[in-house]
Amino acid sequence: MNIRKAQLKDIVDIVKLEESVFHESLGESFLYDEMSLNPFSKMFVIEDELGFVGYIGLRVDEQAELMNFAILPEKQHLGYGTSLMNYVLTLLKNEGISILTLEVRESNLKARSFYEKCGFTKSHTRKNYYKTEDAIVYMKEVNA
Ligand SMILES: CC(C)(COP(=O)(O)OP(=O)(O)OC[C@H]1O[C@@H](n2cnc3c(N)ncnc32)[C@H](O)[C@@H]1OP(=O)(O)O)[C@@H](O)C(=O)NCCC(=O)NCCS
Repeated sequence: MNIRKAQLKDIVDIVKLEESVFHESLGESFLYDEMSLNPFSKMFVIEDELGFVGYIGLRVDEQAELMNFAILPEKQHLGYGTSLMNYVLTLLKNEGISILTLEVRESNLKARSFYEKCGFTKSHTRKNYYKTEDAIVYMKEVNA
């Protein structure tokens, strides 16, 4: 298992992964801009001996916000997501960032269970954030 900074060559795998788990993707040009032009963006990829397994994208300023996070369907529930989240939490801590927030679909019980296991707590609800569905906003104090 290896975690490294995402590179432009990973965009193809990231788009394919997003389409398979979310049925839509941020898109190649968004990901390209995010990686090469956005100074607040941080993206990491996790791989196993066969290659790409998943990725996590954040925007980090004085606080950090999770933009996207997914593991290949056939590689879920094997601990890769936890490894990637722990990696990011350590990095944020080392950079002196105190809070990480994220939005998740109310119906995404698998991800909500994951975040709760990682120590995130529910902050509030954003009504109709996903057009027809509410978002639950979770936060975690990185040093806690
Ligand atoms: C959420 C996600 C990133 C977690 O990564 P992961 O590698 O599967 O998670 P881990 O194996 O490290 O962690 C396991 C925990 O996550 C949750 N989880 C992961 N897969 C699950 C599944 N198939 N069913 C139920 N819970 C699941 C559980 O809380 C589980 O804890 P448990 O083992 O005690 O039951 C991954 O499941 C995923 O990509 N989901 C689809 C995309 C998504 O919803 N992304 C988040 C958008 S906000």
